[in-house]
Amino acid sequence: MNDRPIGVFDSGVGGLTVFRALCAALPDEPMVYLGDTARVPYGTRSPSTVERYSMEAQDFLNQHRIKLLVVACNSASSVALDSLVRESDVPVVGVIAPGARRAVEQTRSGVIGVIGTRATVASGAYERAIQALRSDARVESRACPLFVPLAEEGWTDNDVARATAETYLGELREAGVDTLVMGCTHYPLLREVIGATMGAGVELVDSAEAVADEVRGLLADEAAPPLPAGASARRDLFITDEPAPFMRMAERILGPEATRIEQVRLDEY
Ligand code: DGL
Repeated sequence: MNDRPIGVFDSGVGGLTVFRALCAALPDEPMVYLGDTARVPYGTRSPSTVERYSMEAQDFLNQHRIKLLVVACNSASSVALDSLVRESDVPVVGVIAPGARRAVEQTRSGVIGVIGTRATVASGAYERAIQALRSDARVESRACPLFVPLAEEGWTDNDVARATAETYLGELREAGVDTLVMGCTHYPLLREVIGATMGAGVELVDSAEAVADEVRGLLADEAAPPLPAGASARRDLFITDEPAPFMRMAERILGPEATRIEQVRLDEY
């Protein structure tokens, strides 16, 4: 169990923001990443489709004999987490609960903004998770679907990104949120534009670090102890479409951690 990898999946490059935090927090752990780039985005699809795609990603990662599954996609965590947990022999960590916890820790006014894909916002998963922790919190949600193609395209800091952010976020800013959950793993790639649009008084929550803390805690359990320091860590990246555009972003996000990238077909698993 000990030397088995941690499995991580997302619809595309966004989950690499979580993968990067995991690599930083657990430098000696082998990890396998799957980006389902042939079918990105998940967030505009129906819950049953997102659930089916997520189960296929899980099957693929199980072939790699993972010891823990990280669902590095808010859309999948919102609508498929229960099914993934049911089907899994290993612990499953989603991104919603850690992000909600961090938002509740950070907010002073109790007015929390959540931005995500249509699937995530429609599911109401963040509202439920936040209000379970703080029942008087007010949650203002907004779907920002165009942020995903902007991030996939690497258009993270140009006029188009700024105009898109202003259009999506203006109302949230006016609603007086003091904390904004970037409830999509692609959005931290636009962090600067989102932060500048919301203004200095608004704290941005990126669940990546909260997820990494949770995974570290789980590995501290006897069932799956962390590897001893100094073990050589494998970082295998798999995607379902051509590698070129993904590689460009992966190198930008991960730097030297992007050691091996291979294209695979999920229907073969
Ligand atoms: N990274 C996914 C998420 O966190 C969004 C991208 C998509 O729509 O597939 O929700």
